[in-house]
Amino acid sequence: MKFDFQRLACSLLGSLLFRLLPLECLQPSHDLEQDTVKSIAIVGAGSAGLAMLKSLLDLPPEIRANWDIVLYEQRRDVGGIWLPDPSPTPPPELPETPLYPLLYTTTPVPVMTYPGFPFPPGTPLFPLHEYIEQYHRDYVTRHDLWPYIRLNHTVLSSSWAGTSKAGHWEIVVEDHNGDRIQRSFDHLVVANGHNHEPHIVVFAGQETWLEKTKHGLQREILHSIWYRDPSRYVNQTVVVVGSGASGVDIASQVSQYARKVYLSVRSTAERAPTGPVEMKPEISHFTSDDVVFADGSTAQDVDTILLGTGYDLRVPFLEEGREVVVKPKSNETDENRLTTNLRYLFPLHRHIFSLSASYPTNALAFIGLPILALSCPSDTAQSVYATSIIANGSLLAPRAELLRELADSEEDLRRRGYDPYHVGHRMVDNSTFDYQDDLIRTLRLREGSSDENTRFVEPWRREILNYIGILKRGWKRLEALGQAEEWLEGVESEEEWADLMKRVDAWQRDWEAEHQLVYLNDILVY
Ligand SMILES: Cc1cc2nc3c(=O)[nH]c(=O)nc-3n(C[C@H](O)[C@H](O)[C@H](O)COP(=O)(O)OP(=O)(O)OC[C@H]3O[C@@H](n4cnc5c(N)ncnc54)[C@H](O)[C@@H]3O)c2cc1C
Ligand SMILES: *[C@@H]1O[C@H](CO)[C@@H](O)[C@H](O)[C@H]1NC(C)=O
Ligand SMILES: *[C@@H]1O[C@H](CO)[C@@H](O)[C@H](O)[C@H]1NC(C)=O
Ligand SMILES: *[C@@H]1O[C@H](CO)[C@@H](O)[C@H](O)[C@H]1NC(C)=O
Ligand SMILES: *[C@@H]1O[C@H](CO)[C@@H](O)[C@H](O)[C@H]1NC(C)=O
Ligand SMILES: *[C@@H]1O[C@H](CO)[C@@H](O)[C@H](O)[C@H]1NC(C)=O
Repeated sequence: MKFDFQRLACSLLGSLLFRLLPLECLQPSHDLEQDTVKSIAIVGAGSAGLAMLKSLLDLPPEIRANWDIVLYEQRRDVGGIWLPDPSPTPPPELPETPLYPLLYTTTPVPVMTYPGFPFPPGTPLFPLHEYIEQYHRDYVTRHDLWPYIRLNHTVLSSSWAGTSKAGHWEIVVEDHNGDRIQRSFDHLVVANGHNHEPHIVVFAGQETWLEKTKHGLQREILHSIWYRDPSRYVNQTVVVVGSGASGVDIASQVSQYARKVYLSVRSTAERAPTGPVEMKPEISHFTSDDVVFADGSTAQDVDTILLGTGYDLRVPFLEEGREVVVKPKSNETDENRLTTNLRYLFPLHRHIFSLSASYPTNALAFIGLPILALSCPSDTAQSVYATSIIANGSLLAPRAELLRELADSEEDLRRRGYDPYHVGHRMVDNSTFDYQDDLIRTLRLREGSSDENTRFVEPWRREILNYIGILKRGWKRLEALGQAEEWLEGVESEEEWADLMKRVDAWQRDWEAEHQLVYLNDILVY
C-alpha cells in the first residue's frame, strides 16, 4: 500500500484553492491501477534528460501502460547548455548556461548524435552552437516528447520517504507561475548537467593584485561560465587558466583582440590553441603588480584572468534534504549517503544508480555524469540501461554485490595509475565507447541474451578517435576554400555522414602528406 502524497496534498488544497490548483492535481488520477502504476520524474531537458525520456517511452506499451512520466525543466525550452541565456547576469549571479556566442562544437556532429537521428542535411561538420540547440528541439518534436515536458518548472528539493525496500520521492517543484507544488514519484532520474557550478580556484595574493587598478581600470578574475564576447578584451593583457576545451578555445578567441594572451596550464594542454598565445605553467601567486608562474616567470600589466578551471559536481535539490552530502576532496564512501567530493559522486553503480542504503537500488538514477564522452550516444546507452532497470529492479544484483563491483572498478583505475576519487566520472583512456558497450552487453546478458558480442557503439562512431584532429583541420580548409557546402550535398543518412568524415579525412591526409605537415595528435576532450 502506497501513501499518495500528491493526492493528499491535492485534496487538502482542492476545496479551498480550486482556481490555484496545480496542473498535476487536475490530471486523471490512477485509482484503478494503484498497484501497477509507476511514477518517474526526470530533472533536466538537456541531452541527458531527453535521452532518458525517449528511452522510457520506447518501452513496449504493455510494460509502460499507466506509467506516469514527467520531465521538469527549469528553463524556457529544451537543449540544456546549448540553449542561450537571453540575459546573462554578471557575477556572482550564475548565468543559465556557459554558452558563448562563438561556441562551435569541438567534436564533429555526426558522432555527437542520438543513434538513428542524424543532423539535418547541410549541417557543417563543426557547427555553431545554434545547430545543436535546434537538434534537441527537433528530437523532442520527432519523438513526441513535448507532452511529458514541463518547462519553467524548477525542482527545489527531493527527499526519500520510505525504507531501503520501499517508498517514494517527495518532490517540491516551483512551477511556471511561481507556485510550489508537491508530488511523489517512485523513481527519480537526475539529468541536471555538470557545467553549472563554476570551480573557482583562489591564488595566493590575488586580493592585493585585484585592489590595484591599471590606468584607472578595474582588474578582474572571471570564471569561463561568464565569458561571452572576446572583443571585450581588446588591447588587454589576459591570462587564461586551464588546459581543457574551454580554456584553450577562449584563449584562441581572445587572442584575436587582446594585446597579449597567456595560457597557463598544469601539464601540457590537451589541444594547442590557435593564434598568438604564449604558454605558461601554473600560476604560483600574485604580487600587487604581477602574476607569477610556477617557473618564476611573471606577467606584468595583466588586466584580466579568465579561469577555465572547470565545474563542481553538485546536485542542489538533493543536497537540500541531505540526500547528497558535499565533502570536498573526500574519498571515504558512506553507504548510507551519497557523497559528492565535487568531482565524483559516490557510491554509484556504473555512474548511474545510487547505491545508498536508504532506498532501493533502482530508485535514484543519474544520466549524463560521464565526462570525456560524446554526450548523446553515452546518454542513450545509460538511459537504455536505466530504463530496463527501472522497469525491473531484479535485473540488478543485490546491493552488496554492486558495491563490490564498484570497488573492483575503482581498484582497476588505481592499477592504471589513476585516483578514482579524482578522476570521478571522466572516461579516461578513451573508455567512453567501451563503457557504453559494456552497459548494453550487461543488460542483454541479464535479460537472457546469449550473445556476448553485443555492440552498442557503431564502428564508424568509434573510429573517430583516430582522426578527430585531422578532420577538423580538413573541414576548416574546406570552409576556407568555399567548398564545404558542395561536400555536404546529398549527405543525409548516418552512413553518408560517416562516409563524408572518411572522405574529408582522406582528402586532408593526402594534402598534409604532400606538404609534409606534422601536427600534434588531437584527442577527445568531451
Ligand atoms: C562550453 C561547452 C562546450 C561543449 N561542447 C561540447 C561538444 O562540442 N561536444 C560534446 O559532445 N559535448 C560538449 N559539451 C558537453 C555538454 O555538456 C554536453 O554535450 C551535453 O549537452 C550536456 O547535457 P546534459 O543534459 O548532461 O546537461 P545540460 O545541458 O546542462 O542540461 C541540464 C538541464 O537540467 C536543467 N536543470 C538543472 N537543475 C534543474 C532543476 N533543479 N530543476 C529543473 N531543471 C533543472 C538545466 O536547466 C538544464 O537545462 C560542452 C560543454 C560546455 C560547457
Ligand atoms: C516560460 O517562461 C518564459 C519567460 O521566461 C515565457 O516566455 C514562456 O512562455 C514560458 N513557457 C511556459 C511553457 O510556461
Ligand atoms: C587599441 O590599441 C590601438 C593601438 O594602440 C588603438 O589604436 C585602439 O584605439 C585601441 N582600441 C581600444 C578600443 O582601446
Ligand atoms: C584516500 O586518500 C588517502 C590520502 O590520499 C589515501 O591514503 C587513501 O588510500 C584513500 N582512500 C581511498 C579509498 O581511495
Ligand atoms: C525481472 O528480472 C528477473 C531477473 O532477470 C527475471 O527473473 C524476471 O522474470 C523479470 N521480471 C519481469 C516482469 O520481466
Ligand atoms: C585515445 O585514442 C587516440 C587514437 O587511438 C590515441 O592517439 C590516444 O593516445 C588515446 N588516448 C589515450 C589517453 O589513450
